[in-house]
Amino acid sequence: MLFSHRNVAVFALLLIFLIVWFKPIPLHTKSALHYLRASGPASPDILNATLGFQQVFVINIPERTDRRDAMTLAAALSRIDVQWIDGVDGHSVSDKVVPGDSWDKSISKGNKGSWRAHMNVLQRVVQDNITSALILEDDADWDVRIKPQLQVFAQAARAFTQSVPQHHPEHGVSYADHTSQSEISLAQLPPKLRLSVTPYGDAWDVLWLGHCGTELPKESDMVSDHGYDVKSSKPPVLKITIPNDATVPSPKHLKAHPFALQDEIAKQYPPHTRIVHSSSKTTCTQAYAVSQQGARKLLWQFGLQTLTTGWDLMLRDWCDGLYKSSSRDGRTANHPVCVTVQPPIFSHHYGKGAASDITAPGGGFVNKEKEMTPYIRLSVRLNMERLVNGASFEDLVDQWEDGT
Ligand SMILES: *[C@@H]1O[C@H](CO)[C@@H](O)[C@H](O)[C@H]1NC(C)=O
Ligand SMILES: *[C@@H]1O[C@H](CO)[C@@H](O)[C@H](O)[C@H]1NC(C)=O
Repeated sequence: MLFSHRNVAVFALLLIFLIVWFKPIPLHTKSALHYLRASGPASPDILNATLGFQQVFVINIPERTDRRDAMTLAAALSRIDVQWIDGVDGHSVSDKVVPGDSWDKSISKGNKGSWRAHMNVLQRVVQDNITSALILEDDADWDVRIKPQLQVFAQAARAFTQSVPQHHPEHGVSYADHTSQSEISLAQLPPKLRLSVTPYGDAWDVLWLGHCGTELPKESDMVSDHGYDVKSSKPPVLKITIPNDATVPSPKHLKAHPFALQDEIAKQYPPHTRIVHSSSKTTCTQAYAVSQQGARKLLWQFGLQTLTTGWDLMLRDWCDGLYKSSSRDGRTANHPVCVTVQPPIFSHHYGKGAASDITAPGGGFVNKEKEMTPYIRLSVRLNMERLVNGASFEDLVDQWEDGT
């Protein structure tokens, strides 16, 4: 009999499977999915409400209700669950609590407040034993295709804590230590890198996803002038290229703010290439993820030992290996694993005539005429009115159209 109970049950299961399978993929990600498919499988967890991290935190001073409103909407429209961490007014940070090595330095109140807020997030990550957390500043913006973008990024990021294939003319493909490779395309990575701790790989410390500038790592700048053992602890020079990424603006739009110079990668790579590499001289902390081990190391270094300048500059130096301490036998500790991406996946949103913010990148540049977000094409912030009113993907505005 065609409609036996068994057939009906199988059909129902199939239907449930299909519904569950297709549900997490946001509707407005069609074109991003197109390039995602071409680049192989990724963890479906990244499509979840915390982007494949255990938690997403946003730092916001409660008085800035305007920013909290905007971030709440932006996150809701992208189906992201965020937890708030209260920003800190530098005037409330007592001299007693700052690490000893900052006593003789004049740290601005702004830097003290920002330092404390970031320490408070790290403290929370350690206290709650959170495996991985994404930390956003409250003016961060992103593309509506953020989830598929992060799926692709994750595939690349995993290569930084695992072996990647090496193509040898005689021996074919062998799997080598990633530090010995300099550049590889995403398509050359093995389709399934082993997964364990997080969808972004294991043993990373920081994934620096939103910044206002970074450099491609070079063999030559491996901290030798700071006296560290270069051989045992250099960061990988590996660069993973993601070609034909439709979410990357054309080369002339690759700048951190309207008066900035064009990014180096605009000339070095074909248009619409995104590059995942070790952090090198990265600045601004619009968005970065920490693993549990990364949070512990950072809380030790900057909660207890060091406060000398702005948080992003200290994180830059930490990722560049400048804070590594030597162990007793003279060998240096492992270089921190900080992976970044160019152009960044999160970026600073310049609101219309927004009040100048001392921590804003580009020397406090404020755009009085026009809102904008560098690097982000289908910006959630700039499409907010359309998204709130249920616009379809085709109706969204591309800020950095190729022809413009
Ligand atoms: C998303 O996936 C991550 C990694 O598997 C997990 O830790 C987190 O709890 C998930 N988030 C939600 C909201 O399910
Ligand atoms: C913290 O989490 C790790 C990994 O999930 C687990 O192995 C460990 O036991 C946890 N530690 C505590 C104190 O709960």
